[in-house]
Amino acid sequence: MFNSGIISTIISLIVAICVLVIQHFLGLLNTDMLIIIFPSVLFVTYVCVYLSLEYLIFTEINKIYVVLDKIKSKDFILHEDLDTSEMPTDKRKKIYEEIHTYVTKKQAEITELKKVEVFRREFLADISHELKTPIFAAQGFIHTLLDGAMNDKDVREKFLKKAAKSLDGMQEMVEELLTLTKLEIGELQMEIDDFDIHLLTKDVFEMLEKKAEKKRILMKFSEISNQPLWVQGDCYQIKQVLKNLIENALNYGNENGKVIVSFDIDKVKVLISVRDEGPGIAPEHLNRIFERFYRVEKSRSKDKGGSGLGLAIVQEIVEAHNSKVLVSSILGKGTTFAFKLKKTITNSNNIIGS
Ligand SMILES: Nc1ncnc2c1ncn2[C@@H]1O[C@H](COP(=O)(O)OP(=O)(O)OP(=O)(O)O)[C@@H](O)[C@H]1O
Ligand SMILES: [Mg+2]
Repeated sequence: MFNSGIISTIISLIVAICVLVIQHFLGLLNTDMLIIIFPSVLFVTYVCVYLSLEYLIFTEINKIYVVLDKIKSKDFILHEDLDTSEMPTDKRKKIYEEIHTYVTKKQAEITELKKVEVFRREFLADISHELKTPIFAAQGFIHTLLDGAMNDKDVREKFLKKAAKSLDGMQEMVEELLTLTKLEIGELQMEIDDFDIHLLTKDVFEMLEKKAEKKRILMKFSEISNQPLWVQGDCYQIKQVLKNLIENALNYGNENGKVIVSFDIDKVKVLISVRDEGPGIAPEHLNRIFERFYRVEKSRSKDKGGSGLGLAIVQEIVEAHNSKVLVSSILGKGTTFAFKLKKTITNSNNIIGS
């Protein structure tokens, strides 16, 4: 209803009337004065009030429009330049601050959504690519058999075994993916208990004995670590971690080499490390090996049956134990993966195994 024109008219009328009233009381009012003073006061007041209002209100509103225009054109960097300290403590500052908060929030949401979108696209591409290989392989063997190769007993058995191997690998990968998803969405809760990490590692050594023998790799504990040591964690999940790390050490380690597991104990924690004497991992790959499906040498690790999910699972499990996976590697010398677990404290505050 009100705009600068109406407000200026009202104010200038009031001022002009006030001036006339004052002049009347002072006895200065006459017809000449009335004709000159009233319109002059009216005009001057109108112009002053009108310009002030236009300047104050509309320049401020225009500034807000500039802000909104920038938001519309997605120039979100704008809020970083915003310095509210120079603004008067009035509604204008509040409006700016609200826009600022709103933009910052929306910017964070958009960045997050973009990241999720990129991740989703990459993940779909990766998973299709990974599934394509075993499906095509199994499909190829089965079609060759159907096209007549099944009449030859030797070929039949060989191709069926190969098709089964491809499908087994696929099933393993799907299972790993399910585990990873469950870990990520927090569906797989850790059941923390006390267990002997030395005994658990021995179980894993036994599990992987055949694989180690094939490459004549010796799996052993470091000198000071060959004794029982109680820690806190989810025994089943930590076994998966050790299995993944030791299996990697065997898969990528050199023949006739060694895989050494050691436990370094400090006041409250134990650092568990798995060291191999393999070719090592180049620095540019080191921070990527924990990504899903990431393999340093795609074709070589695929030959070794890897789908690139092992370390992603290891990282999720270790993080669920409030720890981090540390990795250090020297090309040509070997790689060490390590993580920490809490030590078990007995009732009498003695630490078991130390
Ligand atoms: N000890 C190691 N020495 C050298 N390279 C390694 C070692 N551990 C892992 N890598 C590299 O990191 C990659 C990722 O390892 P990760 O365990 O995640 O996957 P994978 O072994 O290929 O497959 P999966 O474990 O799912 O069967 C491997 O493909 C390999 O290139
Ligand atoms: Mg692996």
